[in-house]
Amino acid sequence: MANDLWTRRRVLKAIAAAAGSAAAPTMPRSTAATEPDLELRLTAAPGEARIRDGALTRVLRYTGEVLRGRADALRISDSYLGPALDLRRGERVRIVFRNRTGEPSIVHWHGMLVPEEADGHPRFAVDSGGEYLYEFTVRNPAGTYLYHPHPHGRTAPQVYSGLAGLLIVREPDEAKRALPGREHELAIVIQDRRSGNSFSYSRGMMTQMSGLLGDVVLANGRADAVFRVTPRAWRLRLANVSNARVYKLAWSDGQPLRVIGTDSGLLPGKPLERPYLVLAPFERVEILEDFGTRAPGAEIALESLEFSSLSMGSMMGNMMGGGGMMGGGGMGGMMRGMMGPEQGEPLTVARFVISRDARVKPSEVVLPASPPAPEKPAAALYSRVSFRRMRGFFNGRDFDMDAVADDERLPLGRPTVWTFENDGGGMPMPHPIHIHGVRFRILERRGDGAPQDLREGLIGDAGFKDTFLIFPGERVKVHVVPTEPGMFMYHCHNLEHEDGGMMRNCLFRA
Ligand code: C2O
Ligand code: CU
Ligand code: CU
Repeated sequence: MANDLWTRRRVLKAIAAAAGSAAAPTMPRSTAATEPDLELRLTAAPGEARIRDGALTRVLRYTGEVLRGRADALRISDSYLGPALDLRRGERVRIVFRNRTGEPSIVHWHGMLVPEEADGHPRFAVDSGGEYLYEFTVRNPAGTYLYHPHPHGRTAPQVYSGLAGLLIVREPDEAKRALPGREHELAIVIQDRRSGNSFSYSRGMMTQMSGLLGDVVLANGRADAVFRVTPRAWRLRLANVSNARVYKLAWSDGQPLRVIGTDSGLLPGKPLERPYLVLAPFERVEILEDFGTRAPGAEIALESLEFSSLSMGSMMGNMMGGGGMMGGGGMGGMMRGMMGPEQGEPLTVARFVISRDARVKPSEVVLPASPPAPEKPAAALYSRVSFRRMRGFFNGRDFDMDAVADDERLPLGRPTVWTFENDGGGMPMPHPIHIHGVRFRILERRGDGAPQDLREGLIGDAGFKDTFLIFPGERVKVHVVPTEPGMFMYHCHNLEHEDGGMMRNCLFRA
């Protein structure tokens, strides 16, 4: 009963707020049953940030305030990044978004299971000066999520200008898992930018095709980031918030990475070890790192290793039937000279300095039990992913604000197996595919598969996901059970592809 009231109000107010009035949204009458646990205000506006020596960088940034509830629900960042939202599962949250960017915008809670009207679909974008009121109950399991703008056609420049933040969900049962506590946890937002002190954004032909690639990596908004850690186990939450860059993350001293979580929560069973990890735009991974295995005072780096399979030279080689012969070396180098930064260049993400404190031996972590096997599907969908003449398509269609085709309807509360196939025709490119409003499992990958130089770094198939990379020639089957009714969306999360229209609506209904 109380819940129904809550839902109805939420709808009405979202509609009122979506009308774009600059006036404050009408607050509900105060009745204990419908008041949120937490009320936040998030404002997006121009600002300045120090990225490195020299001139300040003009950015767009989110700032936040707690209007009601726990003061620690927001952790202010010391860079242009938005405050990290620190939410608890089950909490009822109200967020007032104020757009002061100078252009239309809307916030999307990436990976979160929220009602349709709180999802930040581009049809809800408000003009600068306007506000949007979000209300949702935190239903996701503990994990590392994100928020970012989602206005149609302007997501890439707004994110590149600095609009993005972490959204962390916590649960009381994490305490029983012998995971490092909050004092031994580091969340790292990884973004690439073009060198220099400007975040100015331009979308040329190459950018439209490969997506915007920078040549330096910022970790939590800083170039040459250094994190000081103690010789013990740390929980690292790594989020790729780059417009288009795919990272091949590894430790400079060659130790493997121990994965304990994916996009949508902790991995079941045991940690997974990988020599390196492939992280596509807007994917997240949690790792458990025992810095105590290094010498006191040691410095190690988190790097993105070189790989050639996704370079333009290699892609074009494939397109021209060269079977990737032109990748890497000669042609790749020439391409870089002509076109700027490439996928697969070696980069340093951040350095870690290990203190000389006494070593703390790690305890055995207890990850959640394996979830039941995916249920037999009630429906099957197929989506051909293609990229031609600088634009991406799903089953030959690109974005249309209100349209939903028959092959984009999923039954609510019942499992669908959704097959995505990257046809590799036109320009054979990898695409990070994202579905709003759900967490899903990957059942199988078929086809030519991931390139040899990335294969060992894929972990996605093990846990719950909301974004996955599909390589040219691959077919990926996703098992999804929508829980929120309404119109959501799926798209390529290469932001230049997304803005270019590689995005569609999908409808979840009974
Ligand atoms: Cu992270 Cu539709 O986006
Ligand atoms: Cu999303
Ligand atoms: Cu794409």
